[in-house]
Amino acid sequence: MSPSLFDAMPVTWPEAIAPETFLIPNLAPGPDGLFLPVNSMVIRGREPVLVDTGAPVHRAQWLEKVFAVVEPEDVRWVFLSHDDGDHTGALFEVLERCPKATLVTNFFSVERLALEKPALPLSRMRWVEPGGSFDAGDRVLQLFRPPVFDGPTSRGLFDPKSGAMWIVDSFPCFTPGTLDADEMPQELLAQVMPALSSAVSPWHAWLEPASYRRHVDAVEAMGACTVASAHGPVLRGERLDDAFDRLRALAGKPITPTPGQELLDALLAPTLAEAG
Ligand SMILES: [Fe+2]
Ligand SMILES: [Fe+2]
Repeated sequence: MSPSLFDAMPVTWPEAIAPETFLIPNLAPGPDGLFLPVNSMVIRGREPVLVDTGAPVHRAQWLEKVFAVVEPEDVRWVFLSHDDGDHTGALFEVLERCPKATLVTNFFSVERLALEKPALPLSRMRWVEPGGSFDAGDRVLQLFRPPVFDGPTSRGLFDPKSGAMWIVDSFPCFTPGTLDADEMPQELLAQVMPALSSAVSPWHAWLEPASYRRHVDAVEAMGACTVASAHGPVLRGERLDDAFDRLRALAGKPITPTPGQELLDALLAPTLAEAG
């Protein structure tokens, strides 16, 4: 992807989405003039928590945005939802600039990251599994397995104190620019969220609906009133209810096809025409 495309993205800035909770948005180019959100989150409680560390293409903006919300030396926790590159973009910079921070991750993430990045400091980590939690001073943050995920190490995070949830790669959707689902066309959410969920977790085709329903129900029953994710808008109220319903409906449905050679041909056509 050409860097100039990323330079042309609309400017975004941290947004308060729940008490002491900030979305750190960035955008990437999407189809038809839309954009793909690439978000992170900050919980600025007694012991501030960074939730994921953005994508490498956004590293400079990400660091600027995050440290406009919290001072690096105040950060006490870095929660890594999983080891995918678009969530670990500024991980090493954060560990260097936030000397008091402990990295909340797990064994398998560390094993996987060891194959592609310099060694992480084991002495600065805590390994927490789904169902576990960690105490950030004025709140106990709960880990859970998200309903849709593209990496086996994925863990979501729920803050019972603010009612905010980080649901990682679940609920993905292109946006015309806003990061608030209430400001988005309902048809866009209804069409794109299931298609992108299918792209992220194509295994939905083999799910037994009653069994998957129990998992989605359990996540919904945690009681979040604000749900933020890495690649979609912030969801609340009816839009959140609809999003959980769409997820349940994916179980056993055929995989949504993703673009193939026809798209590549179309993308290359102008260049080939110029050369010819
Ligand atoms: Fe991912
Ligand atoms: Fe992601």
